[in-house]
Amino acid sequence: MADNKIESVLREDRQFEPPRSFVDGATLKPADVKALREAAAADHEGFWAAQAREKIDWHKPFSQVLDDSDAPFFKWFADGELNVSYNCLDRHLATKGDKTAVIFEGDDGEVEHISYRELHARVCRFANALKANGLGKGDRAVVYMPNIPQAMVTMLACARIGAIHSVVFGGFSAISLRDRIDDAEAKMLITADGNYRGGKLIPLKETTDKALSEGCESIEKVIVYKRAGADVTMTEGRDIWWHDAIDGQSDECEPEWVGAEHPLFILYTSGSTGKPKGIQHSSGGYLLGAICTSRWVFDYGDDDVFWCTADVGWITGHTYITYGPTACGGTQVMFEGVPTYPEPDRFWKMVDTHQVTIFYTAPTAIRALMKQGDEYPQRHALDSLRVLGTVGEPINPEAWMWYREMIGHEKCPIVDTWWQTETGGHMITPIASSTSTKPGSVTHALPGIVADILDESGAPVTDANSGGILVMTKPWPYMLRNIWGDPERYRETYFGMFDAHTYVAGDSAQRDEQGNFRILGRIDDVVNISGHRMGTMEVESALVAHKAVSEAAVVSRPHEIKGECIVAFVILKNDDPSDELASELRDWVAEQLGAIAKPEEIRFADGLPKTRSGKIMRRLLRTVARDEEITSDVSTLENPQIIEQLQAKGS
Ligand code: WTA
Repeated sequence: MADNKIESVLREDRQFEPPRSFVDGATLKPADVKALREAAAADHEGFWAAQAREKIDWHKPFSQVLDDSDAPFFKWFADGELNVSYNCLDRHLATKGDKTAVIFEGDDGEVEHISYRELHARVCRFANALKANGLGKGDRAVVYMPNIPQAMVTMLACARIGAIHSVVFGGFSAISLRDRIDDAEAKMLITADGNYRGGKLIPLKETTDKALSEGCESIEKVIVYKRAGADVTMTEGRDIWWHDAIDGQSDECEPEWVGAEHPLFILYTSGSTGKPKGIQHSSGGYLLGAICTSRWVFDYGDDDVFWCTADVGWITGHTYITYGPTACGGTQVMFEGVPTYPEPDRFWKMVDTHQVTIFYTAPTAIRALMKQGDEYPQRHALDSLRVLGTVGEPINPEAWMWYREMIGHEKCPIVDTWWQTETGGHMITPIASSTSTKPGSVTHALPGIVADILDESGAPVTDANSGGILVMTKPWPYMLRNIWGDPERYRETYFGMFDAHTYVAGDSAQRDEQGNFRILGRIDDVVNISGHRMGTMEVESALVAHKAVSEAAVVSRPHEIKGECIVAFVILKNDDPSDELASELRDWVAEQLGAIAKPEEIRFADGLPKTRSGKIMRRLLRTVARDEEITSDVSTLENPQIIEQLQAKGS
C-alpha cells in the first residue's frame, strides 16, 4: 500500500451550514433526510425495498429484496421486471410530455430544446432501427459518440430493447476502442463521422475504421451519425448512416421487459493491473441509485435546470446525464464543447443563458477556470444557481472556496460527491439541504450506504484524522455486479482483501472528530488525471510496446490543474536519450491509449531502482518524480547508483 498517501493533512476548521433560504425552498427537508437515515439504519433491506417501490415503475413487482446467498455476487429485486427507458421516458409522457428534457448546446453555440415526447419518439425510432439491424436482448453495442443527444438516444434505445451498451469515451484511441470491442464481443458499433470540440475536429469514424481494421470480428454493423460533415469512408454492407437506419421506422417501440438483474451496461475503467475492466451494472438497482442520489444530493426537483458537465463516455455522464435526470423527469443541459472555448467564460455564460439551477463539474475544471481569472465569472449574474457539485478527484480547499464565493456567491451549498464507476452513483457526499459542509471533505455516507475505514488487519480505524482503507460493509442496490467475463477478478479486486461482504474501494480515507470523511487518494497503482482514471501498468505496457524501449516504470506527481500527472522512467534498448525521442514516446502513448494517458515528463536512465528480489521500488520513484529528498534507506537496492541518474531531469 502506498502509505505515503495515508497521512494527516492540514486540519480544516471552516464549516458551512446550508443557508436558511435554501432549506426553506428545498424539496427534501432536513427532517426528511433524518427520517431516511433512521429508516436505513433500522432496516437496510426494508429501506431499499421501500425506495424501489416508490421510485421505480415495475412491470412486475419484486418480492425478493437482497439475495446474498452467493456473495459477493449480490442480487437486488431479482424477480422484479422493468424497463429502464420506460422509467426514463414513457412514464412522464402523460404529465410532462411537453416538458423540456434536454437543452442541448453544441460546440458552435447552436441550441436545441428536446421535450420528453420528442426524446421518447427518437429513442423508439432508433430502438426499432437497432432491432432491424440485428441487435437484440443481451447483445452488446459499443457507443463511440460525441457528447450529443444522439449518444443519450443510443443508450436509452439499447435499454429499451434489452441490449447492453458499452460507451467508449471519444478521446480514447483506436487501440483502446478495439480492446473494448473485443472484450465485450460487441455486435454493433454506433459512432459519428466526427465532431468539433473547442473548434477542433475529432475524427471518430476514422478512428473507428482504424480500430476495426484488426480484430473486432464480432462487429456486424456500424451505424454512423452525421455530425461534423467530415469526409468519411463507408464500408459497404457494414456501415449505415443513422438517418438511413431510422428512415421509415415507427416512433413507437414496445419496451423489452427485463429482470432487475439484467445488465444495463458495461463501462470499462482502469485498474492496477492488466487491461481495463468491464464494470457491469444492473437495470433495477442501478436505476434506483440514479434516481435516489439525484433527488437527495442535488435536491433535484421539477423546476430545476440541472447541468452535469461530464461526457457520457464516463460513469458521471451515464448516471447524471443519461439516466438520473430523465428518470427524475427533470430538465437538464447537455454540452458538446469545452469550458474555455470560444472564451474562458463559456460555462458561466451558459449558466445564465439556460438559467441553470444545479451545476455539477470536476475539480480540474474549477482549478483551470480559477486560473483564468475572476473577471470571467464576474461578467455573468449566475443568480439562477442554487446547488454546486464536484466529482472525480479530491478538491483542494482553495478551489472549493473559490467555487463557493465566485460561482455560488456564498449562497449555494457545495456537494463534493465521492463515488466510482463501480459504485454506480453517489456514496459519500453532502446532501444539499441538510449537510454542514467543509472544504475538501466529502462528509457522510448517504442513507442506505454503510462506509467504514479499516486498517490492514481489518480492524476499524477509530482515531480521528488517521487514515486507512475505505470500505463499504453492506451491499447496496446500485453497486457493480461483476467484471464482464471475469468473475474471479471481480471477487479478487473488490472483495479479496477482507471478506465477501466488504467492498474495498481502492481509496484511502480518514475521518475527523465529527465523522466527516476525507478522501486521501488511491491505494493501488491507479492515477487520477483530471478526474479520469488511468492504470500506471497500462501506460507502462504502452511504453514497452515501443521498439526503442526496454523497460519503463510510471508514477504520478501532483499537478496544479490536472490534480495528478504521469512521470515515466524509461530504459532504452539501443537509442541514445533525446528530446525528440521523449516527445515521440509521449505521442506514442497517446496513440496507444488516448490523450489523457500522455506522460507529462519522461526521464531516461540506464536502469530502474530495484530490490534484490527484482521488484521496482515505485515509492522511491514517486519521491524522485516529485523532486523530493530521499529519506528512505536505499542501501538494499540492487543498484543504488541509479538514483542520481533518475534525479537528473529529462525532458
Ligand atoms: C476518485 C468517478 C476525492 C477516487 C465518479 C475514486 C474522488 C475514483 C471523488 C473513481 C471525490 C471520485 N473526492 N476523490 N469527490 N470522486 N474520486 O471511477 O479515487 O472515474 O476511487 O468515478 O475517483 O473514479 P471513476
